[in-house]
Amino acid sequence: MSKKNLDWENLGFEYYETEKRYIANYTNGEWGKGKLISDPNVVINESAAVLQYCQQVFEGLKAYTTKDGSVVTFRPDLNAERMLDSAAGLQMPPFPKERFLEAVDQVVEANLDWVPPYGTGASLYLRPFIFGSKDVIAIKPAEEFQFRLYATPVGPYFKGGVNPLTLRVSKYDRAAPRGTGHLKTGLNYAMSLNTTVEAHQEGYDENLFLDAATRTYVEESGGANIIFITEDNELVTPKSSSILPSITKRSILYLAENHLGLKVTERPVKLEEVKNFAEAGLCGTAAVISPVGKIVKGEEEIVFPSGMDDMGPTIKKLYETLTQMQLGVIDAPEGWIRKIK
Ligand SMILES: Cc1ncc(COP(=O)(O)O)c(C=O)c1O
Repeated sequence: MSKKNLDWENLGFEYYETEKRYIANYTNGEWGKGKLISDPNVVINESAAVLQYCQQVFEGLKAYTTKDGSVVTFRPDLNAERMLDSAAGLQMPPFPKERFLEAVDQVVEANLDWVPPYGTGASLYLRPFIFGSKDVIAIKPAEEFQFRLYATPVGPYFKGGVNPLTLRVSKYDRAAPRGTGHLKTGLNYAMSLNTTVEAHQEGYDENLFLDAATRTYVEESGGANIIFITEDNELVTPKSSSILPSITKRSILYLAENHLGLKVTERPVKLEEVKNFAEAGLCGTAAVISPVGKIVKGEEEIVFPSGMDDMGPTIKKLYETLTQMQLGVIDAPEGWIRKIK
């Protein structure tokens, strides 16, 4: 076994078929023993609940090669917990946290040749998911499920690395106030495909969604939360029951407060006040922290003082602190890094 011969520095955010994936099946009311398999294909009945009624939840996390050559994951326990919440929201059985963590470790270990080397900016993306595998025709939950976890090496989600993004305020809504926006389920992403394609066709990097009830508050983008920095260096981020509780954002809020000494406020954020902020960034496992340079709504343009050429100074410090912890350059808070090898 030896490292794959990939152009690690120039990887996109794409699927590669790696060697091993983990599966466990839920039948007769319990999860069976899991195992690593080689076959990337899933064979299910044409009337499986996932195919007919989108009964599916998923997660996304990364494994990194650190400066000392170890391979680690970043706060995988929080992904395991969020998947429990998502599953409960879609009438799916809980996949136990310890088993989730073991599956992550096993898949990373079985695909070590695919873990991008330190210093390349790339990482091994891990995609755990559960889907209703049993046939249904009436609208009801499946009785059988599959948990599956595969890995694929990825580079930055947004091409151009630190080049600030341009967002457009979407004409469409992502999630209803008492809907599924806080859960990580494929159905939230299916509904975003039209508006994402439209945004790209119009030359924008991403959509920014507003609250569906009043369309006055900022929520998040299609695949990341948003943070703002005020002129007096306070971190402000939207609070809403319909956005996904980002693990990256939770980590950033902690680091902003405890490592950079910033005031941190989570509160409803009106679109109207966004023009007063000094910096903005999208944050998530895939986005890491991607600076936002401009937000466009129809004829209106909000250009942040940090501009379109570089990250703002505070977003940059947060980015460096977070990524250096993930790469083992500086120590992370207790329990944030899980060493696999
Ligand atoms: C809609 C949405 N919001 C936010 C995030 C960020 O969450 P996390 O930091 O846990 O990856 C994601 C996933 O990356 C997402 O899909």
